[in-house]
Amino acid sequence: MEPVEPHTTPGAAPKVRARAVTRTFGHGTRQVHALGPLDLDIRHGEFCCIVGPSGCGKSTFLRIVAGLVRPSGGEVEIRAGRRHPAAMIPQDYGIYDWKTVLANVRFGLDVQRVPRKAADARAGDWLERLGLADFAHAYPATLSGGMRQRVAIARALAVEPEVLLLDEPFAALDAQLRTILQDELLAVCQATRTTALFVTHSLEEAIVLGDRVVVMSARPGRVIAERRPPFERPRTGAMRRAPRFAALHAELWELLRDEVQRAGAGAATPAHTVGKPS
Ligand SMILES: Nc1ncnc2c1ncn2[C@@H]1O[C@H](COP(=O)(O)OP(=O)(O)O)[C@@H](O)[C@H]1O
Ligand SMILES: [Mg+2]
Repeated sequence: MEPVEPHTTPGAAPKVRARAVTRTFGHGTRQVHALGPLDLDIRHGEFCCIVGPSGCGKSTFLRIVAGLVRPSGGEVEIRAGRRHPAAMIPQDYGIYDWKTVLANVRFGLDVQRVPRKAADARAGDWLERLGLADFAHAYPATLSGGMRQRVAIARALAVEPEVLLLDEPFAALDAQLRTILQDELLAVCQATRTTALFVTHSLEEAIVLGDRVVVMSARPGRVIAERRPPFERPRTGAMRRAPRFAALHAELWELLRDEVQRAGAGAATPAHTVGKPS
């Protein structure tokens, strides 16, 4: 549980490199300084979890890395072999209700103009891996929340992204399902050596999943600390009961509490979460 400083790694070429990234919204007296300056390096194949108070700019940062939002200042570099290396799973899953499950999972491949037969085969393969094969021709409205979340994961993974961006993906799921999907996601990311940037409001989730847990300040969000959970993989449920788990949780919560209070979430926030998903 050694503190790891600094949160940038000179020398090694990171997969994702964010430098002095800032973002403001609006103009004049209504201007909101949402993010940064934020510096962060993420190694190839690393599973990096980000926690921070509600409204500190986590979603904004992911959108910047995804190329969906421009930074106001600074830059994000992704060392990648192709033009669109990142796929994002947004907070609301972002799946299309008027498309079948298969068509949703094929969506990114259609955008990339992968020929239909190959796209169907690849999408079908991901449906299989995520236990959705029987629902290929169903519409999302007929699926449970957990299955919709799996569709969103399958769609993002079907494009074989080099960098996978996840914005509080399991926040709406019950604890049992969340654990199952966490395990599946980790297994897939490790098997495919996908670099993952995972935003969560749950410290516990960050510790279970992360090679590294990055803590952001209240808005405008900056990196204020990071820790590497000292647990071997595969990590099992038993780890949650280990004294080192409780110690790391307490240490991270200590770092976060002031920021959550500054963000206005107040003392009513339970110690295992960092404000509500937003
Ligand atoms: N498109 C936008 N227009 C104006 N303000 C925005 C926009 N997107 C985000 N913000 C503001 O930027 C801040 C950070 O938002 P966000 O990145 O969603 O935070 P988080 O995901 O950490 O909760 C918030 O104050 C939010 O209201
Ligand atoms: Mg958010």
